[in-house]
Amino acid sequence: MLRTHTCGELTEKMIGKPVTLCGWVHRRRDHGGLIFLDLRDRYGFTQVVIDPAQKDLFTLGEKVRPEWVLQISGKVRKRLEGAERKDNPTGMIEVISESITILNEAKTPPFEIDQEKDVSEELRLEYRYLDLRRERMRKNIELRSKVFQIIRNYFTSKDCLEIDTPCLIKGTPEGAREYIVPSRMYPGEFFVLPQSPQQLKQLSMVGGLDRYFQIARCFRDEDLRGDRQPEFLQLDFEMSFCEQSDVQDIIEGSIIAILKECSQKPLKNGKIERYTWQQVMDAYASDKPDLRFDMPIKDISSMVEGCGFEVFEKALKADGTVRALRVPGGAELSRSEIDTWTELAKELKAKGLAYILFEEDGPKSPLLKFFKDGFLETLQKETGAKKGDALFFGADSFKIVCASLGRIRLEAAKRFNLIDTSVHSLFWVTDFPMFEQEDDGSLTFSHHPFTSPNTEEWKNRKKNPLGVHSICYDLVLDGYELGSGSIRIHDPALQQEVFDMLGISKEDSKKRFGHMLRAFEYGAPPHGGFAYGIDRIVMILAGEPNIREVTPFPKDQKAKDLMLGAPSMIPEKQLKELGIKSL
Ligand code: AMO
Ligand code: AMP
Repeated sequence: MLRTHTCGELTEKMIGKPVTLCGWVHRRRDHGGLIFLDLRDRYGFTQVVIDPAQKDLFTLGEKVRPEWVLQISGKVRKRLEGAERKDNPTGMIEVISESITILNEAKTPPFEIDQEKDVSEELRLEYRYLDLRRERMRKNIELRSKVFQIIRNYFTSKDCLEIDTPCLIKGTPEGAREYIVPSRMYPGEFFVLPQSPQQLKQLSMVGGLDRYFQIARCFRDEDLRGDRQPEFLQLDFEMSFCEQSDVQDIIEGSIIAILKECSQKPLKNGKIERYTWQQVMDAYASDKPDLRFDMPIKDISSMVEGCGFEVFEKALKADGTVRALRVPGGAELSRSEIDTWTELAKELKAKGLAYILFEEDGPKSPLLKFFKDGFLETLQKETGAKKGDALFFGADSFKIVCASLGRIRLEAAKRFNLIDTSVHSLFWVTDFPMFEQEDDGSLTFSHHPFTSPNTEEWKNRKKNPLGVHSICYDLVLDGYELGSGSIRIHDPALQQEVFDMLGISKEDSKKRFGHMLRAFEYGAPPHGGFAYGIDRIVMILAGEPNIREVTPFPKDQKAKDLMLGAPSMIPEKQLKELGIKSL
């Protein structure tokens, strides 16, 4: 080893002992004829002193610059009184240098490592290896590694086998666009990178392996948001001979283990809550509401008949719904803030965002002139709106009203600082609809097509497909969808029926999923599972605003790796070998 100790471990116990340290020059200070170097490594900082009496060392010390890599030998000594730093574990001592070797010089970095100053994300990602030297990143990577260890220990203790599934596979229908990999051996044919190991973990259950887990790399070519990356990690889990509650118990245990070790915050109400999809959609207009604050949404459909405001009445006639959100303190919102929220609602397909502000000198709203006598009072009574509050309304299909008001609820909580960040809100959402209706009227799956339907409702599927719920469950943490899972179909006939309902022809389903249907014919056990986003849980634990901050080498918001310069063109010759014509 080039060192006897790290830069984070020397204490007063070591006073008088010889040591050798290696690290980066964090800071150099010249003071009263002495040179002080703060030497940094992953473990901490140690103050090194160069005495001018040591002429050669002093000359070298004058030369070194931030981020040079040094090996320093010397003796540990107590710091002078008044120079101690109690907030630093090595703050009581310093090392008086006896020899210094320059292991490497460094160019002036494009941003300062020694300050958590605002640096553009672009620059940080381009020089990620320098960014990783900063404390914020180091802490996040340490946390991430700790979460991996907890997961491995936990699932192994639950008799799960860690099974690695391949990345060169065939397409999985899970809702996202896939990354494809051309095959040289079979020109014109492609592998697909897994959106998740869904099919392979199910096939492991058919293989009798009983309990599986994997920290699985998944790839999805979808529009990026703060909580999405094109490649990310899932804790992926599957078990045989189980019911929904068995999967939930195991997953809960793992999340509790992570929270216990990595978070100081308690769970809101001291427990993991359980809601059905219908309950959270009705109460909070979202299937992943942030329940660290309570701001319920009220269905006022039954009140609006004859209310005088055409927008409301029309929505109801078209089998839609009218809902109201009371924002405490909302009367102080400015016109331009309301305009911004209206634009947000419109981006989510709402036609507008009706509102009433209950100001000091009375209610203000463009709607009032339309309201029949008494309707405003009814609204106030039913929603509890009082002076100082605002009411926002959605009048449209259930889907559109939920999308827009759910989003406005979040905006309002942020604007009025209503989110209780001292707790975690963790809950299950169950009983999702099996299918969703596309704009063209066709059906699509809401989780994935391997999810079991509710048996009783399935009998009625032809008459009421949207009334069928699935045995599917999501876990929501602090307003983020942390994970999803389901009890799977293990009966090939039922699986075929689901493909039929989705309008996937027999021929097509055989081509795309023949391997699954065939496997189910060889004694597939009843099975179910779950997957949660590891990047997402680390982001929440670290209190970071997006998952790039907790991903060692992330893509930027436009799905580019700025450090490697990927994606990039590849030579014509290589394309030719793959049978691909470039643009
Ligand atoms: P699902 O598609 O819901 O389920 O994904 C599970 C969890 O993975 C995380 N996640 C992501 N994290 C970062 N970037 C992304 N682009 C991204 N996409 C998803 C989320 C999400 O909740 N096979 C099923 C699971 C199962 O049924 O067992 C699946 O993949 O936290
Ligand atoms: P209009 O009559 O279209 O000018 O709309 C009057 C108010 O109602 C405006 O504040 C609109 O933003 C709002 N509004 C219009 N359509 C809807 C709708 N479907 N849901 C909620 N608010 C709406």
